[in-house]
Amino acid sequence: MGKFFITTPVYYVNDVPHLGHAYTTIAADTLSRYRRLLGDEVFFLTGTDEHGSKILQAARQKNISPQKLADEMTARFKNLWEKLSISYSDFIRTTDQKHIKVVQNVFSRLHEKGDIYKGKYSGWYCVPCESFWLESQLKDKKFCPECKRETVKLEEDSYFFSLSKYQKPLLDYYNENPDFVLPSTRKNEVVEFVKRGLRDISVTRLNLEWGIPCPVDEQHSIYVWVDALINYISALGYSLEEERFFTFWPADVHLVGKDILKFHAIIWPALLMAIGIKLPGMVFAHGWWMIKGEKMSKSRKNVVEPEWIIDRFGSDYLRYFLLREVPFGEDGNFSPALFVKRVNSDLANDLGNLLNRTLTLVVKHFQAKVPRPGKINAQDDELKGKIDSLPDNLQNFMDRLSFSQAFDSIWEVVRGANLYLDRCAPWRLVKKGETERMGSVLYNVLEIIRILTVVLFPFIPRGAEKMWKQLGMEDILSEQKLKDAVKWGKLPFALEVKKPEPVFPRIKEEDFYEVERET
Ligand code: MSP
Repeated sequence: MGKFFITTPVYYVNDVPHLGHAYTTIAADTLSRYRRLLGDEVFFLTGTDEHGSKILQAARQKNISPQKLADEMTARFKNLWEKLSISYSDFIRTTDQKHIKVVQNVFSRLHEKGDIYKGKYSGWYCVPCESFWLESQLKDKKFCPECKRETVKLEEDSYFFSLSKYQKPLLDYYNENPDFVLPSTRKNEVVEFVKRGLRDISVTRLNLEWGIPCPVDEQHSIYVWVDALINYISALGYSLEEERFFTFWPADVHLVGKDILKFHAIIWPALLMAIGIKLPGMVFAHGWWMIKGEKMSKSRKNVVEPEWIIDRFGSDYLRYFLLREVPFGEDGNFSPALFVKRVNSDLANDLGNLLNRTLTLVVKHFQAKVPRPGKINAQDDELKGKIDSLPDNLQNFMDRLSFSQAFDSIWEVVRGANLYLDRCAPWRLVKKGETERMGSVLYNVLEIIRILTVVLFPFIPRGAEKMWKQLGMEDILSEQKLKDAVKWGKLPFALEVKKPEPVFPRIKEEDFYEVERET
């Protein structure tokens, strides 16, 4: 049994969670669940990023303290994660005392080592991105090159981290670890950026009241990005509980959006090199969800609220759509039409019908008891063959975070089973009095459904639980291990199945618009 440590970014608490946040977290949850299915001990970390000017400003606008804003928003995030069946192991808040202590320890270590020195910062700052920019980098001399919003001029004493020192070690590391940054197109961008040369970065802000106090100079607080990145090690107790820390560190996967890749693929590994601990296995940058071609964001007022969708259509439909519709790593467009088409065709038609028509026949012709399988023929063998290759296919795609291809390999089995059912036509067998053959056919399809349910659990946990119940299975679904579950014949015959109830009902595009008008 291996260990698997996966993280999401810590999310800013200036506003309520949106689809982009849900996307990263669903992906991390699916990978975590998949790894548990393989038998790994998983540590899945998520949380909130609560310091800095951005949060302070948002709190001031609302006339509340930043801590109160953080408390309220953290509750919103946790609530959404529950609705989405997110199985995190720990939820870190950057205002946790333990985190604050670790951040200060790291800062002191870097300072003692000579990697942090005092200087003067002169440049521009983008509050929404919490990023420093040089005048030459600005758009039209004023605007953030990243988010295009107005920047503010900063001229202050500051402590700097000697990032430039790590240019060569970073380039060597990318070279020796080709899968450290994925997808590879993004990795190439990072490498090109680092090759152009790295400047030392400012790591403190002067007199910023909402930040972690700098341990070597009380007038300064620690730059929010340094504070935030350290969550990945503070949650494991770095510098406080070494044993726990080394059980899970290094992280296997840091999941991030493409907009924050440089922080994770350049600054973070350099900080880790500087304090002398191992680097994470992989930083994977996914794309953005767009609305009519624009990045979804609060300031653009084009946000689709995940709660809105879940309350109407359920969390599985959202999880399925986000991971299935667009290859992970690429940008995607969210539209009600695409959403409805995708879930209706794959979940309601392919998967839902397979379950429904099989159970209906078992209830009607076998008193709702799993029939005893008879002799196996070539058609049955072909169906079983599809299961044989499934674990390896899945592993191959999941290792590369290729969720959409993982779904393709699962749907090959779903479609194969539907086709098998059509060809064997058990409804005709009953008319011909071939009850034994009919029982075999239904057993085989039920057995495929059992295996599919186990395999689908990481992706659509609620629907899978319902399928499991309808099959009448008594074992605990979340405790199943892939290696055992794919063994053919584990479905006990004579097990009592339930009368089918639609697990994946069809939805209509009007459902989107009708409710939209009401809200
Ligand atoms: N607090 C920082 C992360 C610190 S991690 C040490 C932050 N927070 S965030 O709340 O603004 O964004 C978190 C994540 O949400 C990022 O990975 C970002 O890419 C993702 N998304 C935000 N909008 C998005 C979309 N429209 N689509 C997909 N994901 C996007 O950055």
